[in-house]
Amino acid sequence: MEPISRLLMRNPVFAGVYERIWRPTFTRLFSLGGSATEDYDRALRAWLARPGERLVLDVACGPGNYTRLIADGLTGDGQCVGIDFSPAMLRQAVRTNATGRATYLRADAHAIPFADNTFDVVTCLAALYLIPDPLSVIDEMVRVARPGGDIVIFTSVATELTSLPGVRFAVEAATGFHIFDEHAVVDRLRAAGAVDVEQTITGQGQYVLGVAPDSRPTP
Ligand SMILES: C[S@@+](CC[C@H](N)C(=O)[O-])C[C@H]1O[C@@H](n2cnc3c(N)ncnc32)[C@H](O)[C@@H]1O
Repeated sequence: MEPISRLLMRNPVFAGVYERIWRPTFTRLFSLGGSATEDYDRALRAWLARPGERLVLDVACGPGNYTRLIADGLTGDGQCVGIDFSPAMLRQAVRTNATGRATYLRADAHAIPFADNTFDVVTCLAALYLIPDPLSVIDEMVRVARPGGDIVIFTSVATELTSLPGVRFAVEAATGFHIFDEHAVVDRLRAAGAVDVEQTITGQGQYVLGVAPDSRPTP
């Protein structure tokens, strides 16, 4: 049977309440009572929305909440493309977060349908933990980023709490939500060739930033 988290992402009612209700609650939950994730998210949002002429890819964009935010800051020929697998999420994105600079496309993050070296920024926020083969998505993000382009990831990370006996297994089994080992995302990003990789752990979540390399490692 499919895990509840994946069923939810395809549900139109969930897609309708995701941006206003689910995402803010979930962001808060990541810090369990503190505000570390909310604080980082606020700073990240300001950085993502900064003015400029960029081509940005928002992988697993959901209802376009960050796609729109990024698009609204762009200037000149700047564009933000949001890709997602869920028709319900994409319909919601088109309904609520359509603008001239935001484009939505149905695509699988495991095989991003763009050429190498295309985007100035590639984001994947609050989604890797739902994707069946998440580390391969990191390779794809680096592949489609242009040399010097920014990679931005927000996802789960194993902590003291989730390392308590049975907790991680229970969360993963009950929800289908994957909890990454502390170094898994950073290591994969570096192995894909990214440089200047930085990890910030905020409660139960991690933000990982990196820069796509000038030349790619040969497979
Ligand atoms: C929780 S939403 C995240 C939305 C938004 N990025 C945010 O930060 O709030 C996760 C999204 O990942 C999408 N997703 C899951 N697996 C995917 C895949 N293989 N390819 C593309 N999107 C996928 C789901 O459909 C869902 O819309």
